Amino acid sequence: MSKNSEDFVNSIQNYYDIALQLVMKCGPSVRDGYSSKQADYEQKSSFYDLVTKYDKEIEDMLVAGLQKAFPESKFIGEESVAATGQLPELTDAPTWIIDPIDGTTNFIHRIPHWCISVGLSINKELVVGIVYNPIANEMYSARKGHGAYLNGQRIHVRNCTAMNDAVLAYEISLIHSIRVRDKNVKRLSKLGAHSAGIRCIGSAALTLCYVARGNFDCYHVEDLQAWDIAGAAVILREAGGVLCHTKGDEFQIMKPNLVAAATPELAKIMIGLIEEADAITDFTFK
Ligand code: IPD
Ligand code: CA
Ligand code: CA
Repeated sequence: MSKNSEDFVNSIQNYYDIALQLVMKCGPSVRDGYSSKQADYEQKSSFYDLVTKYDKEIEDMLVAGLQKAFPESKFIGEESVAATGQLPELTDAPTWIIDPIDGTTNFIHRIPHWCISVGLSINKELVVGIVYNPIANEMYSARKGHGAYLNGQRIHVRNCTAMNDAVLAYEISLIHSIRVRDKNVKRLSKLGAHSAGIRCIGSAALTLCYVARGNFDCYHVEDLQAWDIAGAAVILREAGGVLCHTKGDEFQIMKPNLVAAATPELAKIMIGLIEEADAITDFTFK
C-alpha cells in the first residue's frame, strides 16, 4: 500500500479511531485509582523506578483491545518490556508503542500531571499519537498530516523564536546516575540562564503536549525510552513543532534523546547552547 493511497489513509484513520476509543475507556478505572487514596506501588529496577497495578492493567487492556482490532499489530509497551527484560526491535510492521502511565511518580503522589500515551509506528514512521490526562480531562491526539487536537480543537505551538522569550522544560531523567548528571547540570545551567523560565512536570509525554499547545516553548531530555515520547512526538509535529536529536540530526524514536521546540529558530539556538555546555571540561558536580 503506498503511503498516500486512499486505502493507507483510511487504515490510519481506523487505527486512530479505535485507539482513541480504547484509551478513553481506560479513564474511569485509572481515575478512581488516582482519587481513592495514594496508590500502592512496587519498585522495578530501583528506588526511583516505580509501578502500580494500574500501569499493568492499562497496558493489558490496551494491548488486548488493539490486538483484537488489529491482529497484525506488534507492541512495545513499558510494562511488558519490564516483565520480559526484552526491548523488541522496531520493524516496519504496525507497532503500538505504549506507556500506560507516563508520570507514575506523579500518579502515586497525587500530582495531577500524568497521562496514558500511545503512539503507532508504521514502516518505522510515527503516524498516530494519543496522550490522555484523565484528571484534567485532556485528550491530545494527532495523525500524520491531519493536525494536532486537544479535546477535538486544533492546537498549535507558540511562535517563539528567541530563547529569552521561551519557557524551557527540562528534565534530568536518571539524575541518579553519575553517567548523566554532569552533562545535564551543565546543559541545564547554560539553557536555563538564557531562557525566560524553567519548568519540570515529571511526564515527558505531557511536557511535549504542553509545547504543542504553546504553554511551554521548548524541551530537552535524554535517556528516556520510546514509550515516553512516541505518542506525543506526533502531536508536537502536527502542532507545527520541531523534534530532532540533541545534536540536530534526525530524531530516532528508539533512542529518543531530543530537542523539542516551537520553531526551527529556537531548536537551532538550543542545539548551539547544548554544544557550548558540552564543551565545558572543567566541571564536576559532586
Ligand atoms: C517517566 C516520565 C518522566 C521522566 C522519567 C520517566 P514513567 O516515565 O516520563 O518525565 O523524567 O525518566 O521514567 O516512569 O512515569 O512512565
Ligand atoms: Ca514514561
Ligand atoms: Ca510509565
